[in-house]
Amino acid sequence: MRIGIFDSGLGGLIVARAVQKAMPEYDYIYLGDTKRLPYGNKTQNEIYKNTIQALRYLFEKDCVLVVIACNTASSQALRRVQQEWLPKSKYFDRKVLGVIRPTVEMVEKARNIGLIGTLRTVDSTAYLQELQKINKNIKLLAKATPKLVSMVESGKYEDEILKNYLVPFKNVEILILGCTHFGMLKKEIQNILGKKIKIIAQEDILPGKLKSYLAKHKEITKKLGKSKKFEILVTKSSRRYEKLSREWFGAKTKPKLINL
Ligand code: DGL
Repeated sequence: MRIGIFDSGLGGLIVARAVQKAMPEYDYIYLGDTKRLPYGNKTQNEIYKNTIQALRYLFEKDCVLVVIACNTASSQALRRVQQEWLPKSKYFDRKVLGVIRPTVEMVEKARNIGLIGTLRTVDSTAYLQELQKINKNIKLLAKATPKLVSMVESGKYEDEILKNYLVPFKNVEILILGCTHFGMLKKEIQNILGKKIKIIAQEDILPGKLKSYLAKHKEITKKLGKSKKFEILVTKSSRRYEKLSREWFGAKTKPKLINL
């Protein structure tokens, strides 16, 4: 069986690359819902419906575990998926994990935290709720930065937009990149904010978190195939995905177009 990684687009592929690098022995399948991207300004119901479709697809493709590497879907759909849908579905023995809890665990000690994410992630207050479980007095400054998603998808970097978005964060201790896409802008963000502010990017933390999860869940690990296969599925093809797939996963890798 395989590990599935789901996102609306490139962000999940960045995470998938980091996970595969950390644990190259396993078989993976990444699904990017590129046709319906961005998720960040869809309604909660749309996000939930799309997430269920993607999970079904991945489970039918033999995933024993799916990581929802999308903060928007993690904040808007994960709880409902885990509590209502999964236990009653025929995939009740599979696992679905999100990205918010593991990210919050990495910033436990900080008190003055910044967060950038999509509109829906910020609206959901999911980060604040998780952070307050650790410390009631934690200060979180959260701001939606939706234009960064299209910047990453298109590869057209615009310095002024990023600089303006980051103005309110000059005094935080830590800035959480609460959207997997933003990992592609990590260097630029660090340059604008300076070295004193720690940047938390999910592709840096999720591989380690998943590794320890698997070490604790042998019932899952023992089901995982170990032929080092990596499959990329998208709902809309593009040259950029084809190029990045070859660069990141080898010359023979080609994203496969699917219908959800
Ligand atoms: N990469 C996704 C996230 O982590 C969302 C991007 C989008 O589709 O708006 O939230």
